[in-house]
Amino acid sequence: MVVESLRLADFRCYGEAEAEFAPGVNVISGPNAAGKTNLLESVYYFSSLRPIRSLREKEMVRTGAAAAGMELAVFSGGRRKQLSAVISAAGGKKLSRNGVRLRTNAEMLGDLRTVLFSPDDLFLIKGAAAERRRLLDRAISQLRPSYYSALAEYTRLLAQKQKILKEHGEKPTLLELLPSYNEKLAEYAGILISVRHSYVNKLTQFAGTCCESLSGGKDRLTAVYRSLSNIPDTSLPAAQLAELALAHLRSHREAELASASCLSGPHRDELEISINDQPARAFASQGQARTAALALKLAEREIFFRDTGEYPVLLLDDVLSELDPERQSGVLNRIQGGQVLITCCSSEAEPLSGRRFSVRNGRIAAVRDL
Ligand SMILES: Nc1ncnc2c1ncn2[C@@H]1O[C@H](COP(=O)(O)OP(=O)(O)OP(=O)(O)O)[C@@H](O)[C@H]1O
Ligand SMILES: [Mg+2]
Repeated sequence: MVVESLRLADFRCYGEAEAEFAPGVNVISGPNAAGKTNLLESVYYFSSLRPIRSLREKEMVRTGAAAAGMELAVFSGGRRKQLSAVISAAGGKKLSRNGVRLRTNAEMLGDLRTVLFSPDDLFLIKGAAAERRRLLDRAISQLRPSYYSALAEYTRLLAQKQKILKEHGEKPTLLELLPSYNEKLAEYAGILISVRHSYVNKLTQFAGTCCESLSGGKDRLTAVYRSLSNIPDTSLPAAQLAELALAHLRSHREAELASASCLSGPHRDELEISINDQPARAFASQGQARTAALALKLAEREIFFRDTGEYPVLLLDDVLSELDPERQSGVLNRIQGGQVLITCCSSEAEPLSGRRFSVRNGRIAAVRDL
């Protein structure tokens, strides 16, 4: 998958800007606050239909302007697609593909796949288990729409069960519904655990090799998927996992009622990451955590490639800061193959080949091929 060109109008700090990207490495360099992350965000937007940093899309409209316009030419699966988005400062947006207006976000998802690494991804290593579950859920959902639906259904049932647990004091008859909710939740739990298990196997394998090479052989990354306490072996078939999940739910009935919260299920799963056999969350240095987070993202990209035959576009924001020169060149060597947009401050190491965009004060000031 390749982003061939980009046109922006009143997007973030950009008035008008155009870029033609190379199919390989594209370096976006410039001082702080020049507009480097904003440029990546405009590409990222088409793959997720949400901004990188803010929650509200209208924040992407240039201050004082009525609307932001973005156009992207994407080449994928042997075809060229023209994607466009207009975001209004008053709220609302228009999406279109090849000039045809799309009615829903869902229609555009899939036209462009990206893997983004941003400074916030340190939380993948240092943050709570929810961060790692999100990584798994997002990555698997991109590959398997059936996983996405199962997860959506599980989440919907969980929210309803949560309501029962909170409100049964006032309405005791609600408790009669609990066993059937648990049965349905267990069924979906079996599917989620089974799919997560096989994805984690691949992720660990690729991320391990990648982390080792990025760190020059210093960091050995391992990851263990931990689900319910009565499921030490997550490789079992989904039906057996579902039975065990149901037994776990039943044994936690009293505790769930007492705490009025859903204590049992894969919404509490953990992906335990260790570096050189020490839990990364507690022990990894900043540079080690950054290397490990990046290794997970590169592994996600590799798995996507093996599954679909196309690399997603890799967006690397500020990946080189905090890394020593050896790790910096490890990263630059690893990102060959597929298209990459990488931002860096001018002082950092830069790839020897690729197209270089110098960004200054919300303008693409110069482009040159190295
Ligand atoms: N809606 C907006 N309208 C106008 N300017 C904006 C808008 N949103 C963000 N900006 C400005 O865009 C500028 C560039 O931001 P960006 O995050 O792209 O910088 P950067 O080049 O990535 O810098 P750094 O090296 O510090 O990460 C910032 O000064 C920011 O205030
Ligand atoms: Mg930035």
